[in-house]
Amino acid sequence: MARSSEQFTCQHCGETYRKWQGRCDSCGEWNTLVQSTADVAVPSGMTLGKGRALTFTALNADISEYTRTLSHIGELDRVLGGGFVPGSSVLIGGDPGIGKSTLLLQAVAKMALAASPCIYISGEEATQQISMRAQRLGLADAPVQLASANSIRDIITSVEKATPAPKLLVIDSIQTVFADNLPSAPGTVAQVRASAQELIRLARKTGTSVILVGHVTKDGQIAGPRVLEHMVDTVLYFEGDRGHQFRILRAVKNRFGATDEIGVFEMSDAGLREVANPSSLFISSPGKTISGASVFAGMEGTRPLLVEIQGLVAATPQATPRRAVVGWDSARLAMLLAVLDTRCGLSFSGSEVYLNVAGGLRVQEPAADLAVAAALVSSISDVPVPPGSLFFGEIGLSGEIRPVGQADARLKEAAKLGFTTAVIPAGSKIKDSKMKIIEVEHLREIVSLFSETK
Ligand code: TYD
Ligand code: MG
Repeated sequence: MARSSEQFTCQHCGETYRKWQGRCDSCGEWNTLVQSTADVAVPSGMTLGKGRALTFTALNADISEYTRTLSHIGELDRVLGGGFVPGSSVLIGGDPGIGKSTLLLQAVAKMALAASPCIYISGEEATQQISMRAQRLGLADAPVQLASANSIRDIITSVEKATPAPKLLVIDSIQTVFADNLPSAPGTVAQVRASAQELIRLARKTGTSVILVGHVTKDGQIAGPRVLEHMVDTVLYFEGDRGHQFRILRAVKNRFGATDEIGVFEMSDAGLREVANPSSLFISSPGKTISGASVFAGMEGTRPLLVEIQGLVAATPQATPRRAVVGWDSARLAMLLAVLDTRCGLSFSGSEVYLNVAGGLRVQEPAADLAVAAALVSSISDVPVPPGSLFFGEIGLSGEIRPVGQADARLKEAAKLGFTTAVIPAGSKIKDSKMKIIEVEHLREIVSLFSETK
């Protein structure tokens, strides 16, 4: 007899436990365990029958039917690695209200207008609401097939029967669809997994690409996109600060392309607008002279991106001063402060430290260390960064500054935008540059850069 028993499943990562506990040991999230029915074990004594013999193919098999379908949104195609691969599944995650539905509505409309049939199924909004949005965005004429549905059974049947067969199916969102043969509520790990499994199978069988929208939730009431990440071919995150108009589409997993490319969009009253050349978006005028601001010449995939880093060091009588970071890693800031203290004798122990990456961008490259250090040293010594200068380089625990990749591309873009001085790691392999190059070996040299100019 198969044994079925109660268990507790983490709605964030899908880990299961026999007993309830406050914190998931696997992903560290609090209050995400929900009671569910354990998977029924395979009945003992049931032996596997003979399977169907597989047909093996060579690596050089014909792949001509796998030509990618373009979404005709350049920034989306770039992140996907050149458009949708037929039969692939894409998960797009992001906070509620960040613009996932808007982006996908624009994508299906453009594709439908370019003679690639698309189906858009929303489990969140009524079709009238979507039509209203489409009309406002001027996309109402696109021949998109639209439906509002929640049952995975209905969705699969309709997509299989649809003529012409769709090139792209959008499910907005995976957390609202459910399989009626499962006892758990829509949005739970079991439901989300089962529905996604069915849709991925449908994609492979029919060659239609499937996009699943997944909301990122903090409270664990509904299952997050994390539980699906290993099932789909491509995972994209749509991020950005809701107070800013810029949105970044980032690939965190891609079986058909690079994962370091980003797509940059601007949210306007006419929907999401592509920003094809984002390099100067995240900086204010290069000639500005206030203390505590520096410019980092970063790379996002193959594109250089110049970003303004703002630091503020303020004296405080409190024993444990605050450190607050927006757009950068707070552990990395703590490390940098410790290095500045130990290796350069610059103490921040009596000061609050705030760090902000302008424009709502999240910087992930270690190459930003030097620019962050420059902003902090500039703020604490109240000396502005020399106008027209920029920084990049990784800082090690002993205070040494290490070269980073693609120095030439960074310098070239900065020169184009009117920067004149670059402070870079000693030993960087660079070709001739029009800019004045200051090579630094140790963080101490950055500190003296600011005390000399005082
Ligand atoms: P939406 O795509 O519904 O977000 P998600 O599907 O990720 O939850 O985007 C909603 C936000 O976008 C909403 O706050 C309003 C804003 N928005 C605009 O600013 N301009 C527009 O043209 C549209 C359609 C939305
Ligand atoms: Mg939405």
